[in-house]
Amino acid sequence: MPLEIVRNDITKMNVDAIVNAANETLLGGGGVDGCIHRAAGKELLKECRTLGGCTTGDAKVTGAYKLPCKYVIHTVGPVWHGGTHGEKALLESCYKRSLEMAKEKGCESVAFPLISSGVYGYPKDKALKVAVDTIGDFLLENDMTVYIVIFDKASFSIGEKLFSDIKEFIDDKYVSDRTDERYERRRGAALFASRSCAPRSEPEECFEEEICCSMAPPADLEELIDCIDESFSQMLLRKIDEKGMTDAACYKKANIDRKLFSKIRSDVNYKPSKQTAIAFAIALELPLKEAEEMLKKAGYALSHSNKFDIIIEFFITKGNYNIFEINEALFAFDQNLLGA
Ligand code: AR6
Repeated sequence: MPLEIVRNDITKMNVDAIVNAANETLLGGGGVDGCIHRAAGKELLKECRTLGGCTTGDAKVTGAYKLPCKYVIHTVGPVWHGGTHGEKALLESCYKRSLEMAKEKGCESVAFPLISSGVYGYPKDKALKVAVDTIGDFLLENDMTVYIVIFDKASFSIGEKLFSDIKEFIDDKYVSDRTDERYERRRGAALFASRSCAPRSEPEECFEEEICCSMAPPADLEELIDCIDESFSQMLLRKIDEKGMTDAACYKKANIDRKLFSKIRSDVNYKPSKQTAIAFAIALELPLKEAEEMLKKAGYALSHSNKFDIIIEFFITKGNYNIFEINEALFAFDQNLLGA
C-alpha cells in the first residue's frame, strides 16, 4: 500500500528511512527526537553536530546507526501559533523536503511521525490532514511506500465535524436496518399466516424476467459457464478506459501498489481483497450502485452490518472519493484501510 497509517513506535519501523521531528539545532530533544537518538546511539548526535542545524520547513539526512533503517531524515516543523503564521505551508514543506531527500537516497520506504503535533502544538487532526495530503500528492508522481506512524491511540482524531457526521451516518444506518429487519420479520410472519390459511390457487403470472429465467429448466452447465459474466479485472480495465484514465493514474488514486495492479491486469480471474476492490471503485469515482456492482464481481457486498461498509457508503454518497481522507476516517474508527 503506497500510503499507510499505522500505530507504532517509529524507531521499530523496518523501512529505508525514518523521519525525525527535530528542532533547528538538530542536537536532540524530547518526544520522538529523544526516542530516535536513544535508539540510534551516541554516534547519531556526533553526525548531527556536523550539519550546522536546519531551518524550519527544511530537512537534512544522516545515517541511522543502531536503528533498523538506513537513514534518519531530520526535519524541523513549525511551532503552532494559531495557524495564521504560515504554519501549514511550513509543515507541507517538511514533508516535501523529507520525501525529496528520501528519493535522492533511493529509499523505497519511509516512515513519518506526525511532525509538529507534540511539543510544537500543531493540532493533531490538522497535522494529520497536512501529512496525508502532502504525501498523497507526492505519491501521485512517485513510487514509494510511506507510513504515517501514530504513536498514541488516544491522541488521534480526525476533524470533529467529519467524525460526528460519520458517527451519525453509522447510527442512522444501524437504526434503519434494525427497523427494516423488524418490519421484514413482521411482514414474513403475516405472509406466512395468510398463506397457510388461504385456499390453494393457481400460480400467479410472472412478470419478473429474472425470476422467470431462474424458473426455466436448468440449461447445460457448460453452456451456462460459456455465458459467464465479465470478471472483476475485465470490468476494472473497461471502466479505466471509459473514464479516460491511465492505469497509473487509477492505481495511484486507489493507493494500490504498481506490482499488484500488473497482477490484476494480467490475470482475468484475479480475486482481489475487499479493500482492494473498494479502492478501485473509489479511484474510478463510481456511484454507489456501480461500486456495488464492481464489488459483486469480486464476490463482495456493502452491508449495513459493519462499520467499515457504512463508512465507505458514507463517503461514496457524499461524492468524496479521496482515498486518503477515507483512510483517515477508517483509521479513526479502527477499521482496515483501503489499498494494497
Ligand atoms: N514514534 C512515533 N511517534 C512518536 C514517538 C515515537 N517513538 N514519540 C512521540 N511521537 P514531538 P514536535 C509522536 O513532540 O511536535 C522535540 O523536543 C508524538 O505523539 O516529538 O515536532 C524536538 O527536539 C507526536 O504526535 O515533535 C523539538 O524541539 C509526534 O510524534 C520538538 O520536540 C511529534 O511530537 C519538536 O516538536
